[in-house]
Amino acid sequence: MKVYLAEDYQEMSRFAANLIASRVALRPECVLGLATGSTPVGTYELLVEQHKSGKLDFSKVKTVNLDEYVGLPADHDQSYRYFMQTNLFDHINIDPANTHVPNGMAEDPAVECARYDQVIDELGGIDLQILGIGHNGHIGFNEPSDTVPMGTHLVDLTQRTIQANARFFASEAEVPKQAITMGIGTIMSARQIVVMASGADKADIIKAAFAGPVMPQVPASLLRLRSDLILVGDRAALSKL
Ligand code: F6R
Repeated sequence: MKVYLAEDYQEMSRFAANLIASRVALRPECVLGLATGSTPVGTYELLVEQHKSGKLDFSKVKTVNLDEYVGLPADHDQSYRYFMQTNLFDHINIDPANTHVPNGMAEDPAVECARYDQVIDELGGIDLQILGIGHNGHIGFNEPSDTVPMGTHLVDLTQRTIQANARFFASEAEVPKQAITMGIGTIMSARQIVVMASGADKADIIKAAFAGPVMPQVPASLLRLRSDLILVGDRAALSKL
């Protein structure tokens, strides 16, 4: 594992944006695995800036997102599809047909999960996967568990995740209780994986995941099975590592 200590959120974001930009420059048709949440917002802003200044061309890039809430339509302002449109896709020259997010409104989530795995397969897998980390160690919406899910699956969100995400909704009751998420197996198969973390509230889980035992009860710890893993965090998030 390589750990990059960034001074602050901005420097962490610059590091991740530069990694993504160099991957796109090297392989214009690359497949990016993308995350939502507070952590990558600054990274996406920098990518938009680079694109607008003419330095970054997304015309051949393909993206697959980690997850989506069940029951939220694409135009709901808290859906992850909406997040990706407003934070990145609407501001760059990516072909909408090349952007993939699980469909949280699918009639049969099991069929949707199988379809999503097939999409990733047909794209040839993920070149660069960007991850945030939940306070309980989740990656994507792979919550702490006794087993390791391989492919895309339906999950019941834990109370802790529902509470953490309530800040984006009018009330906790409005937070969806289920999500569709890429599995840990798919994430681990990405050709490069970058975990980002920012803020003192992530310090305990960063310590548990990257200095404690490797176990599915702390899903992010499983990433250490990849010796080429990159962790980039700001000083506050890495303070206990
Ligand atoms: C989002 C996702 C989640 C978040 C995690 C951290 O697509 O997969 O695992 O990365 O919950 O969220 P933030 O960045 O809001 O702290």
